[in-house]
Amino acid sequence: MASLFSEGDPVLLVYNKRHRWIKTVIDDLFHCNYGSVNLGELIDAPYGTSLESSKGKFLHAFPPTIIDWINVAFKHQSQIIYEKDAGMILMMLDVKPGDTIYETGTGSGSLTSILARSVGPTGKIITHDNREQAIEAAKYNLSLLSLDNVEFNHRDIVEDGFVEGNADALVLDMGDPWRVIDHATKILSPGRKIVVFLPTFDQLGKTKDQLEIWNFKDIKAIELLEREIQMKKGAIRPSTRMIGHTGFLLSAIYMGPKLSLET
Ligand SMILES: C[S@@+](CC[C@H](N)C(=O)[O-])C[C@H]1O[C@@H](n2cnc3c(N)ncnc32)[C@H](O)[C@@H]1O
Repeated sequence: MASLFSEGDPVLLVYNKRHRWIKTVIDDLFHCNYGSVNLGELIDAPYGTSLESSKGKFLHAFPPTIIDWINVAFKHQSQIIYEKDAGMILMMLDVKPGDTIYETGTGSGSLTSILARSVGPTGKIITHDNREQAIEAAKYNLSLLSLDNVEFNHRDIVEDGFVEGNADALVLDMGDPWRVIDHATKILSPGRKIVVFLPTFDQLGKTKDQLEIWNFKDIKAIELLEREIQMKKGAIRPSTRMIGHTGFLLSAIYMGPKLSLET
């Protein structure tokens, strides 16, 4: 049975790869460069309906995915995590419903929203950022998705550490993560995992050194490269342009406080 739009639902309108909007299904006109369409035509219409505009162009209507929300509707405060990295972070941290995940920094809340959706209503994200502006933008962005399982903390982690609690896992996306590894040991119990996103080799080296000092093991770093395939008739081949580098993902497991005789 086809899924249908209801009045009040969010809808993603797609003209092409670059021109897409998120609107609400209501009896009203939406105007864009390609003409206007009546969003009311979507009430009780199936997902995938195409609306013909006043200029004879077609806008295709779908329920928005979380990536659509992030790319189309979120206010961007800082560099957001890329989809490929966010997907791998979920796997590396083994994020599942009910988990409590600690995070710094919140930034625009892109990764926060992906984590919040993954842990579900029984889980929680405890996120921290030292910029009020970032927290405000992230709160607005997450409200678009009606995600209310996130605790926002306006806090400098280098200075003040994480808010007290027990993390099932920790993710860091901030400029100087090597300066908070000592604080990480206060919220992680032995066997719990950390993943750090780092754009440079310098950050990678400094963070790895601190992880070793604070008794993290199974330290591993990877880089994911994504190459889009151009889907042009008669010329299906790798795109000549690609995002060459986003960052490295460094993961490790906390072993607990070091015993004095251990090396
Ligand atoms: C690259 S952004 C994070 C982007 C986020 N992962 C996203 O997907 O939207 C880095 C954030 O870390 C925050 N940050 C940097 N140092 C911090 C610190 N010492 N304590 C708390 N937050 C910090 C910055 O304010 C910034 O918002």
